[in-house]
Amino acid sequence: MKFYLIGGDFGIDRLVAGQGEIPRPGPGQVLVRMKAASLNYRDLLVIEGKYSRKLHLPLVPLSDGTGEVVETGDGVSLWKQGDRVAGTFFQEWLSGEITPGASLSALGGAINGVLAEYVVFDQQGLVSIPGHLSFEEGATLPCAALTAWHALSVTGIRPGSTVLTLGTGGVSIFSLQFARLAGARVLSTTGSESKEGRLKETGAAEVINYRKEPDWDRRALELTDGRGVDLVVEVGGAGTLGKSLNAVRMSGHISLIGVLTGSTGEVNPLPAVMKSLSLHGIYVGSREMFAEMNRAIELHHMRPVIDSVFPFSEAKAALRHLQGGSHFGKVVISF
Ligand SMILES: NC(=O)c1ccc[n+]([C@@H]2O[C@H](COP(=O)([O-])OP(=O)(O)OC[C@H]3O[C@@H](n4cnc5c(N)ncnc54)[C@H](OP(=O)(O)O)[C@@H]3O)[C@@H](O)[C@H]2O)c1
Repeated sequence: MKFYLIGGDFGIDRLVAGQGEIPRPGPGQVLVRMKAASLNYRDLLVIEGKYSRKLHLPLVPLSDGTGEVVETGDGVSLWKQGDRVAGTFFQEWLSGEITPGASLSALGGAINGVLAEYVVFDQQGLVSIPGHLSFEEGATLPCAALTAWHALSVTGIRPGSTVLTLGTGGVSIFSLQFARLAGARVLSTTGSESKEGRLKETGAAEVINYRKEPDWDRRALELTDGRGVDLVVEVGGAGTLGKSLNAVRMSGHISLIGVLTGSTGEVNPLPAVMKSLSLHGIYVGSREMFAEMNRAIELHHMRPVIDSVFPFSEAKAALRHLQGGSHFGKVVISF
Protein backbone atom coordinates (compact mmCIF):
# COMPACT_ATOMS: atom_id res chain seq x y z
CA MET A 1 0.00 0.00 0.00
CA LYS A 2 1.07 3.56 -0.72
CA PHE A 3 1.41 6.39 1.78
CA TYR A 4 3.13 9.73 2.32
CA LEU A 5 5.38 10.49 5.28
CA ILE A 6 6.96 13.51 6.87
CA GLY A 7 10.41 11.96 7.26
CA GLY A 8 13.35 13.72 8.87
CA ASP A 9 12.80 17.04 7.07
CA PHE A 10 9.85 19.40 6.91
CA GLY A 11 8.35 20.96 3.76
CA ILE A 12 5.85 19.95 1.08
CA ASP A 13 8.62 19.03 -1.37
CA ARG A 14 10.26 16.84 1.28
CA LEU A 15 7.20 14.66 1.83
CA VAL A 16 8.28 11.07 1.23
CA ALA A 17 6.10 8.80 -0.92
CA GLY A 18 6.36 5.29 0.54
CA GLN A 19 5.08 1.79 0.04
CA GLY A 20 4.52 -0.95 2.62
CA GLU A 21 2.49 -3.90 3.87
CA ILE A 22 -1.23 -3.47 4.46
CA PRO A 23 -1.65 -3.29 8.27
CA ARG A 24 -3.95 -5.74 10.10
CA PRO A 25 -6.52 -4.66 12.68
CA GLY A 26 -5.99 -5.81 16.27
CA PRO A 27 -8.76 -6.43 18.84
CA GLY A 28 -11.30 -3.59 18.79
CA GLN A 29 -9.75 -2.13 15.64
CA VAL A 30 -10.98 -1.60 12.11
CA LEU A 31 -9.04 -1.60 8.82
CA VAL A 32 -10.27 1.07 6.40
CA ARG A 33 -9.44 1.29 2.70
CA MET A 34 -9.17 5.06 2.37
CA LYS A 35 -10.99 6.66 -0.56
CA ALA A 36 -10.51 10.38 0.00
CA ALA A 37 -8.82 12.92 2.26
CA SER A 38 -9.20 16.67 2.59
CA LEU A 39 -6.69 19.35 3.46
CA ASN A 40 -6.73 21.86 6.28
CA TYR A 41 -4.51 24.86 6.94
CA ARG A 42 -3.24 22.89 9.94
CA ASP A 43 -1.80 20.25 7.60
CA LEU A 44 0.39 22.93 6.01
CA LEU A 45 1.62 23.97 9.47
CA VAL A 46 2.38 20.33 10.37
CA ILE A 47 4.16 19.56 7.09
CA GLU A 48 6.23 22.73 7.30
CA GLY A 49 7.26 22.07 10.91
CA LYS A 50 5.38 25.11 12.25
CA TYR A 51 2.68 23.28 14.21
CA SER A 52 4.31 21.76 17.27
CA ARG A 53 7.80 20.92 18.40
CA LYS A 54 6.47 17.74 19.95
CA LEU A 55 5.73 15.91 16.67
CA HIS A 56 7.18 12.43 16.48
CA LEU A 57 8.66 11.75 13.05
CA PRO A 58 8.21 9.93 10.77
CA LEU A 59 4.55 10.92 10.63
CA VAL A 60 1.77 10.22 8.12
CA PRO A 61 0.11 13.64 7.68
CA LEU A 62 -3.54 14.77 7.34
CA SER A 63 -6.40 14.44 9.79
CA ASP A 64 -9.42 14.19 7.51
CA GLY A 65 -10.25 11.08 5.53
CA THR A 66 -13.03 8.71 4.52
CA GLY A 67 -13.08 5.15 3.29
CA GLU A 68 -14.70 1.75 3.40
CA VAL A 69 -14.33 -0.81 6.17
CA VAL A 70 -12.51 -3.84 4.76
CA GLU A 71 -11.69 -5.87 7.89
CA THR A 72 -12.64 -5.81 11.57
CA GLY A 73 -10.64 -7.13 14.52
CA ASP A 74 -11.95 -9.30 17.36
CA GLY A 75 -14.61 -7.67 19.49
CA VAL A 76 -15.62 -5.00 16.98
CA SER A 77 -19.35 -4.36 17.34
CA LEU A 78 -19.81 -0.93 15.77
CA TRP A 79 -18.73 -1.66 12.17
CA LYS A 80 -18.87 -4.28 9.43
CA GLN A 81 -17.25 -4.72 6.02
CA GLY A 82 -18.49 -2.18 3.47
CA ASP A 83 -19.47 0.53 5.97
CA ARG A 84 -18.66 4.05 4.75
CA VAL A 85 -16.78 5.86 7.49
CA ALA A 86 -14.77 8.97 8.41
CA GLY A 87 -12.03 9.09 11.04
CA THR A 88 -12.64 11.46 13.94
CA PHE A 89 -10.05 14.25 14.30
CA PHE A 90 -9.45 13.36 17.96
CA GLN A 91 -9.44 9.60 18.15
CA GLU A 92 -10.10 9.68 21.90
CA TRP A 93 -12.51 12.61 22.37
CA LEU A 94 -15.77 10.74 22.37
CA SER A 95 -18.14 13.09 24.22
CA GLY A 96 -18.34 15.72 26.94
CA GLU A 97 -15.44 18.10 27.56
CA ILE A 98 -12.05 17.59 25.97
CA THR A 99 -9.45 16.11 28.31
CA PRO A 100 -5.66 16.47 28.20
CA GLY A 101 -5.39 12.83 27.07
CA ALA A 102 -7.94 13.25 24.27
CA SER A 103 -6.19 16.36 23.00
CA LEU A 104 -3.13 14.18 22.34
CA SER A 105 -5.03 11.83 20.03
CA ALA A 106 -5.30 14.02 16.91
CA LEU A 107 -4.75 12.32 13.57
CA GLY A 108 -1.92 13.71 11.46
CA GLY A 109 -0.36 15.47 14.47
CA ALA A 110 0.02 13.59 17.73
CA ILE A 111 -0.53 10.30 15.88
CA ASN A 112 -0.26 9.10 12.28
CA GLY A 113 -2.86 10.54 9.92
CA VAL A 114 -4.80 9.43 6.86
CA LEU A 115 -2.65 10.11 3.80
CA ALA A 116 -2.29 6.35 3.26
CA GLU A 117 -4.27 3.82 1.24
CA TYR A 118 -5.08 1.73 4.35
CA VAL A 119 -5.47 2.99 7.92
CA VAL A 120 -6.25 1.08 11.13
CA PHE A 121 -8.59 2.93 13.51
CA ASP A 122 -9.92 2.08 16.91
CA GLN A 123 -13.62 1.30 16.39
CA GLN A 124 -14.57 4.38 18.46
CA GLY A 125 -12.45 6.61 16.23
CA LEU A 126 -14.87 6.42 13.31
CA VAL A 127 -18.32 7.78 12.41
CA SER A 128 -20.63 6.94 9.49
CA ILE A 129 -20.64 9.47 6.68
CA PRO A 130 -24.00 10.94 5.61
CA GLY A 131 -25.66 8.71 3.02
CA HIS A 132 -26.08 11.40 0.34
CA LEU A 133 -22.39 12.39 0.37
CA SER A 134 -19.59 10.96 -1.76
CA PHE A 135 -16.33 9.86 -0.09
CA GLU A 136 -14.78 13.13 -1.35
CA GLU A 137 -17.55 15.22 0.22
CA GLY A 138 -17.45 13.20 3.45
CA ALA A 139 -13.71 13.75 3.73
CA THR A 140 -14.27 17.49 4.24
CA LEU A 141 -16.12 16.97 7.52
CA PRO A 142 -13.82 15.77 10.37
CA CYS A 143 -11.96 19.03 11.05
CA ALA A 144 -13.28 22.06 9.12
CA ALA A 145 -16.98 21.23 9.25
CA LEU A 146 -16.94 20.03 12.85
CA THR A 147 -15.03 23.11 13.98
CA ALA A 148 -17.62 25.34 12.31
CA TRP A 149 -20.49 23.30 13.78
CA HIS A 150 -18.97 23.51 17.27
CA ALA A 151 -18.26 27.25 16.84
CA LEU A 152 -21.90 27.96 16.07
CA SER A 153 -23.54 25.51 18.43
CA VAL A 154 -22.02 26.97 21.62
CA THR A 155 -23.27 30.48 20.90
CA GLY A 156 -27.08 30.39 20.80
CA ILE A 157 -27.28 31.46 17.15
CA ARG A 158 -30.91 31.37 16.03
CA PRO A 159 -33.09 32.63 13.17
CA GLY A 160 -32.50 36.35 12.80
CA SER A 161 -29.00 36.32 14.35
CA THR A 162 -26.12 37.86 12.40
CA VAL A 163 -22.87 35.92 11.94
CA LEU A 164 -19.61 37.31 10.57
CA THR A 165 -17.22 34.92 8.78
CA LEU A 166 -13.65 35.77 7.75
CA GLY A 167 -12.27 34.64 4.37
CA THR A 168 -13.29 31.72 2.21
CA GLY A 169 -11.37 28.77 3.63
CA GLY A 170 -12.85 25.48 4.80
CA VAL A 171 -13.96 26.54 8.30
CA SER A 172 -15.45 29.83 7.12
CA ILE A 173 -17.49 28.36 4.27
CA PHE A 174 -18.89 25.64 6.55
CA SER A 175 -19.71 28.35 9.12
CA LEU A 176 -21.58 30.25 6.42
CA GLN A 177 -23.52 27.12 5.46
CA PHE A 178 -24.40 26.13 9.05
CA ALA A 179 -25.36 29.71 9.95
CA ARG A 180 -27.74 29.77 6.99
CA LEU A 181 -29.18 26.40 8.09
CA ALA A 182 -29.84 27.98 11.50
CA GLY A 183 -31.70 30.86 9.83
CA ALA A 184 -29.03 33.47 10.52
CA ARG A 185 -27.93 36.38 8.34
CA VAL A 186 -24.29 36.07 7.31
CA LEU A 187 -21.77 38.81 6.59
CA SER A 188 -18.63 37.40 4.97
CA THR A 189 -15.24 38.94 4.29
CA THR A 190 -12.82 37.98 1.55
CA GLY A 191 -9.61 39.45 0.21
CA SER A 192 -10.38 38.29 -3.30
CA GLU A 193 -12.71 40.08 -5.72
CA SER A 194 -13.24 36.90 -7.72
CA LYS A 195 -14.69 35.13 -4.66
CA GLU A 196 -17.26 37.82 -3.80
CA GLY A 197 -19.92 36.42 -6.16
CA ARG A 198 -19.44 32.86 -4.91
CA LEU A 199 -19.92 33.98 -1.32
CA LYS A 200 -23.27 35.49 -2.32
CA GLU A 201 -24.23 32.28 -4.17
CA THR A 202 -23.35 30.28 -1.05
CA GLY A 203 -25.72 32.38 1.04
CA ALA A 204 -23.85 35.44 2.33
CA ALA A 205 -26.21 38.41 2.63
CA GLU A 206 -23.33 40.88 2.45
CA VAL A 207 -19.72 40.55 1.34
CA ILE A 208 -16.94 42.84 2.57
CA ASN A 209 -13.63 42.82 0.72
CA TYR A 210 -11.02 43.30 3.46
CA ARG A 211 -8.44 44.55 0.98
CA LYS A 212 -10.72 47.21 -0.48
CA GLU A 213 -12.22 47.96 2.95
CA PRO A 214 -9.46 47.45 5.54
CA ASP A 215 -11.89 48.80 8.17
CA TRP A 216 -14.20 45.82 7.66
CA ASP A 217 -15.17 46.03 11.33
CA ARG A 218 -16.74 49.45 10.73
CA ARG A 219 -18.55 48.13 7.67
CA ALA A 220 -19.94 45.24 9.76
CA LEU A 221 -21.24 47.80 12.27
CA GLU A 222 -22.87 49.83 9.48
CA LEU A 223 -24.50 46.69 8.09
CA THR A 224 -26.03 45.98 11.51
CA ASP A 225 -27.23 49.57 12.08
CA GLY A 226 -24.46 50.14 14.61
CA ARG A 227 -25.43 47.20 16.82
CA GLY A 228 -22.70 44.76 15.81
CA VAL A 229 -22.89 41.10 14.85
CA ASP A 230 -24.00 38.39 17.27
CA LEU A 231 -21.09 36.08 16.48
CA VAL A 232 -17.70 36.33 14.80
CA VAL A 233 -16.21 33.02 13.67
CA GLU A 234 -12.60 34.14 14.27
CA VAL A 235 -10.13 32.28 12.07
CA GLY A 236 -7.70 35.16 11.53
CA GLY A 237 -5.95 35.29 14.91
CA ALA A 238 -3.71 38.11 16.07
CA GLY A 239 -4.14 40.25 12.96
CA THR A 240 -7.95 40.22 12.93
CA LEU A 241 -9.03 39.77 16.55
CA GLY A 242 -8.95 43.50 17.37
CA LYS A 243 -11.35 44.23 14.51
CA SER A 244 -13.54 41.24 15.42
CA LEU A 245 -13.85 42.71 18.93
CA ASN A 246 -15.05 45.98 17.34
CA ALA A 247 -17.50 44.25 14.99
CA VAL A 248 -19.34 42.19 17.60
CA ARG A 249 -22.35 43.47 19.57
CA MET A 250 -22.61 44.03 23.34
CA SER A 251 -22.87 40.61 25.07
CA GLY A 252 -22.04 38.97 21.73
CA HIS A 253 -19.81 35.98 21.04
CA ILE A 254 -16.47 35.35 19.39
CA SER A 255 -15.51 31.78 18.60
CA LEU A 256 -11.72 31.75 18.64
CA ILE A 257 -10.48 29.24 16.11
CA GLY A 258 -7.56 30.18 13.91
CA VAL A 259 -4.30 31.94 13.36
CA LEU A 260 -4.27 32.69 9.62
CA THR A 261 -2.59 36.06 10.29
CA GLY A 262 -0.36 34.72 13.08
CA SER A 263 -0.69 33.79 16.72
CA THR A 264 1.20 36.67 18.34
CA GLY A 265 0.53 40.39 18.33
CA GLU A 266 -0.99 43.14 20.41
CA VAL A 267 -4.68 42.94 21.12
CA ASN A 268 -6.51 45.32 23.44
CA PRO A 269 -8.77 43.18 25.67
CA LEU A 270 -10.80 46.16 26.92
CA PRO A 271 -13.58 45.93 24.29
CA ALA A 272 -14.21 42.34 25.42
CA VAL A 273 -14.63 43.58 28.99
CA MET A 274 -16.66 46.69 28.20
CA LYS A 275 -18.97 44.74 25.88
CA SER A 276 -19.34 41.74 28.26
CA LEU A 277 -18.35 39.44 25.42
CA SER A 278 -18.07 35.66 25.48
CA LEU A 279 -14.80 34.47 23.95
CA HIS A 280 -14.96 30.76 23.34
CA GLY A 281 -11.90 28.77 22.28
CA ILE A 282 -12.88 26.01 19.85
CA TYR A 283 -10.75 22.94 19.23
CA VAL A 284 -12.52 20.90 16.53
CA GLY A 285 -15.05 18.73 18.41
CA SER A 286 -15.95 15.35 19.85
CA ARG A 287 -17.25 12.20 18.20
CA GLU A 288 -20.67 12.92 19.70
CA MET A 289 -20.71 16.40 18.09
CA PHE A 290 -19.62 14.85 14.77
CA ALA A 291 -22.58 12.45 14.83
CA GLU A 292 -24.94 15.31 15.74
CA MET A 293 -23.58 17.44 12.88
CA ASN A 294 -23.96 14.56 10.42
CA ARG A 295 -27.64 14.23 11.39
CA ALA A 296 -28.17 17.90 10.49
CA ILE A 297 -26.22 17.55 7.22
CA GLU A 298 -28.25 14.49 6.29
CA LEU A 299 -31.60 16.02 7.24
CA HIS A 300 -30.95 19.14 5.16
CA HIS A 301 -29.12 17.35 2.33
CA MET A 302 -26.35 19.87 2.84
CA ARG A 303 -23.37 19.48 0.49
CA PRO A 304 -19.85 20.64 1.36
CA VAL A 305 -18.30 23.18 -1.01
CA ILE A 306 -15.38 21.49 -2.76
CA ASP A 307 -12.89 23.72 -4.54
CA SER A 308 -10.88 21.01 -6.29
CA VAL A 309 -10.04 17.31 -6.23
CA PHE A 310 -6.49 16.02 -6.82
CA PRO A 311 -5.43 12.37 -7.33
CA PHE A 312 -3.38 10.66 -4.58
CA SER A 313 -0.26 10.86 -6.79
CA GLU A 314 -0.67 14.67 -6.86
CA ALA A 315 -0.88 15.15 -3.08
CA LYS A 316 1.99 17.67 -3.08
CA ALA A 317 0.27 19.74 -5.79
CA ALA A 318 -2.91 19.70 -3.68
CA LEU A 319 -0.96 21.05 -0.67
CA ARG A 320 0.66 23.74 -2.82
CA HIS A 321 -2.77 24.72 -4.11
CA LEU A 322 -4.02 25.16 -0.52
CA GLN A 323 -0.90 27.14 0.31
CA GLY A 324 -1.59 29.48 -2.63
CA GLY A 325 -4.86 30.57 -0.96
CA SER A 326 -6.89 30.83 -4.18
CA HIS A 327 -9.27 28.07 -3.05
CA PHE A 328 -12.91 28.54 -2.09
CA GLY A 329 -14.00 25.86 0.40
CA LYS A 330 -12.23 22.53 0.54
CA VAL A 331 -9.31 20.96 -1.34
CA VAL A 332 -9.66 17.19 -1.58
CA ILE A 333 -7.42 14.25 -2.50
CA SER A 334 -9.11 11.23 -4.10
CA PHE A 335 -7.39 7.84 -3.64
N1 LIG B 1 -9.24 25.53 16.48
C1 LIG B 1 -9.52 24.55 15.65
O1 LIG B 1 -10.03 23.50 16.04
C2 LIG B 1 -9.29 24.75 14.18
C3 LIG B 1 -9.88 23.87 13.27
C4 LIG B 1 -9.71 24.14 11.91
C5 LIG B 1 -8.95 25.24 11.51
N2 LIG B 1 -8.36 26.01 12.43
C6 LIG B 1 -7.62 27.20 12.04
O2 LIG B 1 -8.52 28.09 11.38
C7 LIG B 1 -7.85 28.78 10.35
C8 LIG B 1 -8.57 28.52 9.04
O3 LIG B 1 -8.37 27.17 8.68
P1 LIG B 1 -8.91 26.62 7.27
O4 LIG B 1 -8.43 25.22 7.18
O5 LIG B 1 -10.33 26.94 7.12
O6 LIG B 1 -8.03 27.53 6.29
P2 LIG B 1 -7.96 27.60 4.73
O7 LIG B 1 -8.99 26.72 4.11
O8 LIG B 1 -6.55 27.44 4.30
O9 LIG B 1 -8.41 29.14 4.50
C9 LIG B 1 -7.56 30.12 4.09
C10 LIG B 1 -8.40 31.34 3.68
O10 LIG B 1 -8.40 32.27 4.72
C11 LIG B 1 -8.54 33.56 4.21
N3 LIG B 1 -7.62 34.51 4.81
C12 LIG B 1 -6.30 34.54 4.73
N4 LIG B 1 -5.83 35.62 5.38
C13 LIG B 1 -6.92 36.28 5.87
C14 LIG B 1 -7.12 37.47 6.59
N5 LIG B 1 -6.10 38.27 6.93
N6 LIG B 1 -8.38 37.84 6.93
C15 LIG B 1 -9.42 37.07 6.57
N7 LIG B 1 -9.29 35.93 5.86
C16 LIG B 1 -8.06 35.56 5.52
C17 LIG B 1 -8.34 33.48 2.71
O11 LIG B 1 -9.62 33.68 2.12
P3 LIG B 1 -9.88 34.86 1.05
O12 LIG B 1 -9.06 34.50 -0.15
O13 LIG B 1 -11.33 34.78 0.80
O14 LIG B 1 -9.46 36.13 1.69
C18 LIG B 1 -7.81 32.06 2.52
O15 LIG B 1 -8.24 31.49 1.33
C19 LIG B 1 -6.40 28.31 10.40
O16 LIG B 1 -5.64 29.18 11.21
C20 LIG B 1 -6.49 26.95 11.06
O17 LIG B 1 -5.29 26.59 11.70
C21 LIG B 1 -8.51 25.80 13.76
